[in-house]
Amino acid sequence: MKKLMSGLALSALFVSTVFAQDISAEKGKGIFEAKGCAVCHKKDMDTIGPSLATIARAYLGREIELVSYLRGQGPAIVDPARASVMNPQLVKIRMLFDPEMQAMATYIVSSNDRPF
Ligand code: HEC
Repeated sequence: MKKLMSGLALSALFVSTVFAQDISAEKGKGIFEAKGCAVCHKKDMDTIGPSLATIARAYLGREIELVSYLRGQGPAIVDPARASVMNPQLVKIRMLFDPEMQAMATYIVSSNDRPF
């Protein structure tokens, strides 16, 4: 019985870590900053890289394409002529789990608070 109970507790723990994933923009922001992305991507101003607002406008309603791009499986649509600056950066996030990647995409697309 004791064995059964601890087995149940373990599987409950497993289920909660698999399903209770945090894909919030706030978590995405943390990952974005921790991976050094914010060095080139400011919120509203285009600097070395396009601003988050510029990227958000391009990917509005296209979060799935954004995740594909971040996974290195989709084309660049914002400034493809400068893709050679961005491409090496994708290596840093290659190992992220899906919910982390999703959180980062949520953060990026929610970074445009100007109505255009
Ligand atoms: C050294 C500067 C630099 C860093 C660091 C950087 N980027 Fe970029 N990023 C760029 C440049 C330049 C572009 C424009 C080229 C392009 O659009 O392909 C870009 C474009 C993008 C785009 C738009 C892609 C598209 O569809 O055209 C996304 C999304 C993006 N970066 C996310 C990230 C993330 C996430 C990180 C952190 C892992 C990151 N960037 C780190 C310079 C950088």
